[in-house]
Amino acid sequence: MAMMDKAAELPLRSRTPPEWGRAVLAEPVALLADHAFLEQKAANNAMELMTRWPGEWFPGWLEAMTSVARDEAAHLAQVTRLLIKRGGRLGRGHRNPYAQGLRALVRKGAEAEIIDRLIVSALIEMRSCERFAVLAEVCEDQELAAFYGALFSSEMGHYKLFLKLAQKVGPKAAVMARWEQMLVAEARVLAGQEPGPRMHSGTAGV
Ligand SMILES: [Fe+2]
Ligand SMILES: [Fe+2]
Repeated sequence: MAMMDKAAELPLRSRTPPEWGRAVLAEPVALLADHAFLEQKAANNAMELMTRWPGEWFPGWLEAMTSVARDEAAHLAQVTRLLIKRGGRLGRGHRNPYAQGLRALVRKGAEAEIIDRLIVSALIEMRSCERFAVLAEVCEDQELAAFYGALFSSEMGHYKLFLKLAQKVGPKAAVMARWEQMLVAEARVLAGQEPGPRMHSGTAGV
């Protein structure tokens, strides 16, 4: 199946228009710098979740988290290579109000908290996946377009993995009810973002 068809099947509650892709690609170096931090944060998130398995022992948990962390570190290496090659530099700090907005919705309490963290991780992966599809589609720079296309597949795998883990942690019906709520919240949080050359920027005015 073509990438755009697969992206259209993602259960997102809002869609990123191609105009967003063209707008952010007008500043490719700034976009790459933001993207590098997102990969770093995704790697950190997996490393942080590594020892947070629920209950006594959770078969497959370590393998899942180390494999995500390894993928994200590889993405980070690729994106920094492209950034440096294009004359960019990495800043020392980075803000991601979109991810912060989602993290703020994580409930407290052992099981609810880990379920929500997995759901938030799945949501960020899924939105990134959708945006990589848009970027791969509209990007005229072949090297970048190929890079975004490859990331689309990888982040699709991560989204599915995090959601599957959430369903194993809690009762499936309750997890899916929470997932539905969080899908709505994700679209709202994203809609509140400022526009600009960032992976999770808003689409208003593009
Ligand atoms: Fe990644
Ligand atoms: Fe990922």
